[in-house]
Amino acid sequence: MTINHLDRRTVLRGAAIVAAGAGLAACGDDAASPAATSSAAPTTTATAIGSFSEAPAAPVESSDATDAGSAENALGQAADVPVGSGVIFEDAKVVVTQPTAGSFKAFSAVCTHQGCLVSKIETDKILCNCHGSSFSITDGSVLGGPAPTPLPAQDISVDAGNIRLGSS
Ligand code: FES
Repeated sequence: MTINHLDRRTVLRGAAIVAAGAGLAACGDDAASPAATSSAAPTTTATAIGSFSEAPAAPVESSDATDAGSAENALGQAADVPVGSGVIFEDAKVVVTQPTAGSFKAFSAVCTHQGCLVSKIETDKILCNCHGSSFSITDGSVLGGPAPTPLPAQDISVDAGNIRLGSS
């Protein structure tokens, strides 16, 4: 049983290495133009996340829960998250959005393409400038670019105007 599990990981890692090699070969002389490589396989310039991720769960609505968690999980103030937009908390690698007034959502700020931190929020899109992926502020779904899967939802709570990262 363990041997089968290891064999699967070995196969997956081998496939990732082959894909990365194909990406390097495909980059050619266009390496100076990130937009030119937007449909190419992975390159070595992005900050990679070291594991394969599972399919993301549905975004979690925030609430005024009384057990909001410890201060060490504090992200920021709800008042600083614009309606119809959001804020990127780079240190925590979390994006908090407020698609409609009073409804807060949170997603991983790590792009599902090659692991860059998302760059900014423009209108109702979360943008990754590494290769041009864009994601919905409502559910983290992919709106454009090479990202293969949505930004994974994160648990947060909003209590007395404070946003905290949930632990479950
Ligand atoms: Fe490539 Fe984000 S890492 S689009």
